[in-house]
Amino acid sequence: MDQLKRQAAARALEEVRDGMQLGLGTGSTARHFVELLGERVRAGLKVIGVPTSEATRTDAMRCGVPLTTLDEIDHLDITVDGADEIDPELNLIKGGGGALLREKIVAAASDRMIVIADDSKWVPTLGRFPLPVEVIPFGLGATRRAIEKAFAECGVSGQMAVRKAKDGHVFVTDGGHWIVDAQLERIVDPPGLARALSTIPGVVEHGLFIGLASSAVLAGGEGIRVIERRKPKGD
Ligand code: A5P
Repeated sequence: MDQLKRQAAARALEEVRDGMQLGLGTGSTARHFVELLGERVRAGLKVIGVPTSEATRTDAMRCGVPLTTLDEIDHLDITVDGADEIDPELNLIKGGGGALLREKIVAAASDRMIVIADDSKWVPTLGRFPLPVEVIPFGLGATRRAIEKAFAECGVSGQMAVRKAKDGHVFVTDGGHWIVDAQLERIVDPPGLARALSTIPGVVEHGLFIGLASSAVLAGGEGIRVIERRKPKGD
C-alpha cells in the first residue's frame, strides 16, 4: 500500500515545474510527495511550499523544502494532497488526519489541486469513511443538533462521535478546534450537504471537498490512473 502511495506521489511530482508555488498536503500519501519533492529540491529544483499542517511543516523542513505562507504570496500553482475518499465527480472526503481546515484553505487558493491516493480510496458514493466536521467546542450540543438537522434535510443520518487522540484525550486540530466524525455510509448529495453544513455557526469547516480537485492520481495493482475533472474549478 505504501508503495502505491509513493507511486501516486511520484506521478504528481511530474507536474511540478521550476518556480512553482505549491500547496503541500497532509497525511501518509502527501508525506511521500514532500519527501520526493525534497529530493528534487536538493538536486536544484526551485519551488516554494505552503504546508497544510504543523506535521507537514515539520516534514517539509526536514526534507529541505523552502516554505512560505498565504500572507506572503497571492496564489499557489498546484496543491498536492491525499484524500480519504474520492468519487467519480472528484468530490472528496478529507480530514482523516485532522487537517481539513488548512487543507481546504490551501486547495481553494490553488490553480490546481492534484489528489494522490492508492485506488482503495476510489468509491462510487462518498460516506463509508466517517465525515469529519471541525467544530468550536463552545456550544457543542447545539452545534451537534444543528448538524443532525442538516443531515436529516439532506437525507442522511448516522452516529456522531467527538474524535479522540491516541492518548484518549479529545483530538485538537492545529486551529484549536475539535472534530466530530459522522458515520453516514452513503452521502446522496455531497454538494447539498456541504452547503448545509457550511451555514451552521459552530461548524468551522467540514471534510467534503466539492469542486476543488482538478485531477486524481490513483495507484493500483494494474498501474496508475489519472482522472481529470470535467467541470471547471469551483463548479
Ligand atoms: C488529512 O487531514 C487528510 O485529509 C488526509 O489527506 C487524508 O486523511 C489522507 O491521508 P492518507 O494519505 O494518510 O490516507
